[in-house]
Amino acid sequence: MKGYWKPALLILGFVSFVYAFTTIETEIFQLQNEISTKYGSEMNFYKFLKLPKLQQSNSKEITKNLRKLSKKYHPDKNPKYRKLYERLNLATQILSNSSNRKIYDYYLLNGFPNYDFHKGGFYFTRVKPKTWFVLAFIWIVINIGQYIISIIQYRSQRSRIENFIDQCKQQDNTNGLGVKQLTFKQNEEDEGKNLVVRFSDVYVMEPDGSETLISPDTLDKPSVKKCWFWKIPASIWNITLGRFVSDTEEEEILKDNKKFDGEHVKKGNTVKRRSAKKGQKKMELPNGKVIYSRK
Ligand SMILES: *[C@@H]1O[C@H](CO)[C@@H](O)[C@H](O)[C@H]1NC(C)=O
Repeated sequence: MKGYWKPALLILGFVSFVYAFTTIETEIFQLQNEISTKYGSEMNFYKFLKLPKLQQSNSKEITKNLRKLSKKYHPDKNPKYRKLYERLNLATQILSNSSNRKIYDYYLLNGFPNYDFHKGGFYFTRVKPKTWFVLAFIWIVINIGQYIISIIQYRSQRSRIENFIDQCKQQDNTNGLGVKQLTFKQNEEDEGKNLVVRFSDVYVMEPDGSETLISPDTLDKPSVKKCWFWKIPASIWNITLGRFVSDTEEEEILKDNKKFDGEHVKKGNTVKRRSAKKGQKKMELPNGKVIYSRK
């Protein structure tokens, strides 16, 4: 599952790209930022242009209004009005264009982003609800996909192991009543693996003489708890608040269960239980299939 962060980052990157501000948005934010810094946070383009009907004005009235304002504030009349006139002109340009006016009205209603020089531009202290919705949707899709893939992988690994056990049992002429030694080779030069079928259970003989049971039950079962959906909040909890909270009884029970799930490892005459978390052993079948067993 480790490789999944790459496509996820790609998707997140794409989403932030889609939500980057356009030139006109940046222009709007800049002007709004300037006039609200100068005239107070309640200032908006409609008030700034002193439109008699404010937001009820149509684009013709807005253009006409600029002509009226320029009689008073044109820089030709007084050079000190140069900056003010530039702003009046730009606000008029934005509001007299219906599509740009829609953009302005949207932010006027939902709030403008803040400007932070250190962050290199405008940013939202609160993300647009639409963005949250898109991110949540992608997050859910990724997690469902991850869970489905883990189920598919689990099933195919399980059936490979079951097939392998079946193949071994077919070689067992004691009919599951005795002990049958087998050698598993991938090709002629292969040294081979020694297998034992003991009362219908198939074991791999390790070079050190110990035996490992081959069983599909030793595979980790797919679980929602292994998806990011659960794992990321869980690991955040573990490295923050979880550190200060001692193990609960429930966790102890889980640990015990895990021990119980562990397979029986025969070493000489002593039977040990090992945690199911131990590494998997890879083995290739004659037909090219790969099976996994536990060490
Ligand atoms: C409004 O502005 C946009 C982009 O700034 C431009 O593409 C469009 O042609 C303008 N519409 C009118 C009617 O001027």
